[in-house]
Amino acid sequence: MTRINRLTNIRKWAIADGPGSSGDKHRNQLPLHRERPGSIEHQIAAQILRKGRNGILPFPRAMEIALFAPVSHGQEGGYYPQQAVEDGCLKHFGTRPELHSPDFGQGVAVKIQSCFEKLGRPSPFKIVIMGDGTGTLAKDIMDYLQQEHPSLYSAVELTLIDRSLAPLDVQREKLKEHHSKTTFLYQNAYQDHLPEAHIFLSNENPDTFPVHLIEQDADGSFGEYGIKATEREKCFPPMFEFELALVPGVSQEIRDHIKLAGKPFPRQRQMPINLIATQWIKRITRSMKRGYHFVLDYGFTGTAYPNEDLIWNTSPYQPTNMSAFLTLEFGHRDITTYVDFDTLRIAGEAHGASTELLDYEEEFFRGTGITLPSQQEVCAQLAEKQSRFSAGKIGHLALVQAIGI
Ligand SMILES: C[S@@+](CC[C@H](N)C(=O)[O-])C[C@H]1O[C@@H](n2cnc3c(N)ncnc32)[C@H](O)[C@@H]1O
Repeated sequence: MTRINRLTNIRKWAIADGPGSSGDKHRNQLPLHRERPGSIEHQIAAQILRKGRNGILPFPRAMEIALFAPVSHGQEGGYYPQQAVEDGCLKHFGTRPELHSPDFGQGVAVKIQSCFEKLGRPSPFKIVIMGDGTGTLAKDIMDYLQQEHPSLYSAVELTLIDRSLAPLDVQREKLKEHHSKTTFLYQNAYQDHLPEAHIFLSNENPDTFPVHLIEQDADGSFGEYGIKATEREKCFPPMFEFELALVPGVSQEIRDHIKLAGKPFPRQRQMPINLIATQWIKRITRSMKRGYHFVLDYGFTGTAYPNEDLIWNTSPYQPTNMSAFLTLEFGHRDITTYVDFDTLRIAGEAHGASTELLDYEEEFFRGTGITLPSQQEVCAQLAEKQSRFSAGKIGHLALVQAIGI
């Protein structure tokens, strides 16, 4: 650690005082039992060390490896690809479509049915669902359409896209009754060529996109966090300690993004900037001639920025802070960030979409005849823990984009 601290342009992440942070000086070290060759920690360390002795891995790259590194011979996979290997099935995500199955999927199916009517009942009617995890949402939608709207069901061509093979395998199994109508694509929703569709849909997808971690200091200067690795002495196989390092300055792209959000950027807090989510929404909007795009996720709008204490999630859902994150098992925990719906909305509108931003529990499902348990209780619990959330709207939101309509 002392070696790192001597570097002049790198500020070691100072562990914030707060609940659960009292005096454990090893909190910023990763658990040792994961530090074996081929582990995610070794893969991250190898990338850092390749950059030289004082190398820093950009945070988005570290997050990408931790979540999505594929399983290969002798190499451990990231959180999503590894799950099936460990358990034979996906761990429970604790997401709304899972918790409120089949109601959640049925509510979405009613919305899809109304889009089908508005679009003049096209056949084939193409639906693309991105990052569907266990496939529960897709199954509940398809079961409902089959039963309640057989003519729409017969027009449907469904494509499920996932960038990890383990979820795709589970989705394939879950949708076996709808195989003749479903295509499964092993693709990255923000990088690969997207199929044509009348409806694009995702629940909790952009919250897993790798983010930049930015901090504005008290004087208004920006810096970006990366990850450093230190090899422990006298260890074989080698073992590493990781820490966050703040590098002064940010790219023009990040400055433009902050400007696009158009609200005061918090100071002395680690904030995630999801450039990929904005690029993703641009690509989808531009790829559509006429249709709808539903983005369901947890996030914020208004003047709020999320508090860093609630950025990092373990699985099942359990908010935690960055210091705690570094003590978690890297690559064996989910890492997600709140989605900035304002930026998504602005980006979509800039590319021709007309948008509506809704509270998805109360407003999104209004009129569908499907009632889900209220989000109010969940929000009240969050607000109790983090009063800064009350500055804007934090919760599960829905962005509905209409394109060419
Ligand atoms: C948090 S889970 C959400 C699962 C499901 N939508 C739900 O609500 O239960 C995220 C899913 O998105 C997938 N995913 C993450 N990034 C992706 C990307 N860039 N392209 C396609 N799928 C992605 C993951 O593999 C996983 O299946």
